Amino acid sequence: MKFSSTLLSLALALSATATPTPVRRDLASIQSAIANIATAVNTLDAAEKAYTGGDTTTLQTDSDAVVSATDAGTAAANASGALSDLDAIELVSPIQSLTTDVQNAINDIIAIKSAVVAAGSQAQTLSDLIQQNTSATALAVAITAKVPTVLQSTAASLAAGITNAIQEGITAYSS
Ligand SMILES: *[C@@H]1O[C@H](CO)[C@@H](O)[C@H](O)[C@H]1NC(C)=O
Ligand SMILES: *[C@@H]1O[C@H](CO)[C@@H](O)[C@H](O)[C@H]1NC(C)=O
Repeated sequence: MKFSSTLLSLALALSATATPTPVRRDLASIQSAIANIATAVNTLDAAEKAYTGGDTTTLQTDSDAVVSATDAGTAAANASGALSDLDAIELVSPIQSLTTDVQNAINDIIAIKSAVVAAGSQAQTLSDLIQQNTSATALAVAITAKVPTVLQSTAASLAAGITNAIQEGITAYSS
């Protein structure tokens, strides 16, 4: 991907010239929040994989947990000071990994759609996905705002991977 190789060159260029800042508390709180989101997404994905029909309460509860973890990430990013170039680069890999996790969870919720619809939970699932989208968009805005100006469009493109994946789920459950 052109995008990733640009990031890689940027990361290499920055690591060659920059000195790490001694205080990394804000970066750590955002990294920890992203790790918590990934855990929640993977729990949801496991529930989707295990779903064979009937009661969808677990799917809904696990989606709510993803939304809560995402909102906690937004709060952490909001509370953070401005991130350095190096901080921003360190977020690339966790966000790419989270994008993969989200894409997997979306693929799996789409895969079980006929069973979810048969259980009468299409509208609920659509509503859950819309909440995930709203939260993920807020997180993307919050993180992008803390990233150095030159990296903001890159951060926004990176975050778009997550909201584009959720959008696929919304489209699937909209009809
Ligand atoms: C984050 O900040 C934005 C912009 O100030 C605000 O609208 C939003 O409610 C905040 N979210 C959280 C979870 O703190
Ligand atoms: C996703 O969330 C953003 C921000 O709230 C919104 O602009 C967009 O319309 C949402 N997409 C869907 C399909 O709900």
